[in-house]
Order: sequence, then structure tokens, then C-alpha cells
Amino acid sequence: MSRADKKFLKVSGLTKSFGTGDTKQDVLKGIDFTVAKGEFCVLLGPSGSGKSTLLNILGGIDSADKGEILIAGDKLSAMNEKGLTNYRRKHLGYVFQMYNLIPNLNVKENIETGAYLSDSPLDIDELLKTLGLYEHRHKLPNQLSGGQQQRVSIGRAIVKNPDLLLCDEPTGALDYTTSKEILQLIEEINQKYGNTIIMVTHNEAIKLMADHVIKLRDGKIRHDDMNTKKITAAELEW
Ligand SMILES: Nc1ncnc2c1ncn2[C@@H]1O[C@H](COP(=O)(O)OP(=O)(O)O)[C@@H](O)[C@H]1O
Ligand SMILES: [Mg+2]
Repeated sequence: MSRADKKFLKVSGLTKSFGTGDTKQDVLKGIDFTVAKGEFCVLLGPSGSGKSTLLNILGGIDSADKGEILIAGDKLSAMNEKGLTNYRRKHLGYVFQMYNLIPNLNVKENIETGAYLSDSPLDIDELLKTLGLYEHRHKLPNQLSGGQQQRVSIGRAIVKNPDLLLCDEPTGALDYTTSKEILQLIEEINQKYGNTIIMVTHNEAIKLMADHVIKLRDGKIRHDDMNTKKITAAELEW
């Protein structure tokens, strides 16, 4: 099957502004791209270029002013509040730079919150092992390192086995070695479970591990390339 046949996400003519009058800021100025099923897509761009805004719109957290998003054949803009809630619950995982864990729940319980109302959650013990957290499953978030906390937040996002995993600067708060470990984990998840991943970063080096690289600057896509010389996360250096 060609890449075009496996089209999973299609974004066309997307625009978004914040504010009105003199303070109006056009953040997304007509965004078009497609992502194939199972693809590992990296979204690059300098700070303030609209990466998080775009991701939040894809995640149904924010809405666009104009344009269309088709995801697995469904139109996101046509969904009502209930449809959007259902979309987020069933099809979407979200990982942020900050882990946003629930402080009084342990590792396993935090991950279980992500499986809530899912039709086909992953086996939690197996997932804990993939995450390297099985030995730590009874610990509270404040007993974990930053990297371990990010592993929990990835577990919470992935436990429902979402079609689409959105990651917004998931290594932004982590040191070099821990960042590479987290990137290896995201790579492993992509390969093992086949989730389509869109990962935002401002670190150019990370594009080498992606199938698809989209570069945003000043609210527009400046590059949209397939990476034919993909390397592993372990091989990355910066
Ligand atoms: N809710 C908001 N209200 C007003 N301005 C916003 C809002 N969210 C983002 N912006 C502005 O939009 C621009 C792009 O922000 P963002 O998407 O967070 O960029 P990035 O993630 O690439 O750093 C910034 O100038 C930011 O100040
Ligand atoms: Mg951002």
C-alpha cells in the first residue's frame, strides 16, 4: 500500500488567531499536511511558532478559526461537545512537557486513570514493564525522578492504546541522557503498538528519528519532508 492509501490525518487550510483589533495575532496562517497511519511525525519550529496551538487543535482542546481536520475519515470540526469528548477519550493520548500526575495516586493508579472508559486498554502490568516502572508501581509521583514521572505520563496517555499520540516537548524538562531514554521509549511504543505519533520539539537533532518531519515558522509550514534515512533514538546526538 502506498503512503497516500494509508492517510490517517488530513489537515487543510487551518487558521487560528488570538485577540482582536490591534492585539490580534495570526498564529496559524493556513496549515496543510497529511499524516499516514502508524507514522512517527516530528513537528519542529522555534518558540512561539504555533506548535502547541496546532497540537491543541488536533487534540480537540482548542478549536481552529477556519479549515478542516479529517481523522480516520471523521471530521473533527463537525463533532459536537459530546463527539469531541468521545474522540479524546477513545482515540487520543496527550503527553505534555510537565507531567501533570495526580500527586496522591501511585504509579499504577495514575496510569489506570488513562484507561478510564476505554474499550480496549492495554494490559497494565505488561505496560508497566515496557515503561520500566514495574518495580516502582506502588510509588507516589514525588518519590520519582523527572524521567520516571514522564514515563508515567506516557503510560497514562498510551494505556487506552490511542490511534493518535500527541507529545508536546516531552523531553523539554529533562537532561540529555534522560531525554534520550524517553525518546527511545516513544520509539518503542510506536513500533510495538503502531500508534500514529505527532511529537513537537524545538530540537532539530530529533528529526533524524522521525518518518516525517514538518517545520513550522511564523504560522506556516516551511518544510514537509519524509525522512528516508531514519536512525534510532539511541543513535541521536546533540
Ligand atoms: N490562549 C492564547 N491566548 C493568546 N495568545 C496565545 C494563546 N496561546 C498561544 N498564544 C500565542 O500564540 C503564539 C504561538 O504560541 P504556541 O502555539 O504556544 O507556540 P510554540 O508552542 O511553537 O512555542 C505565541 O505568540 C503565543 O503567545
Ligand atoms: Mg509550545
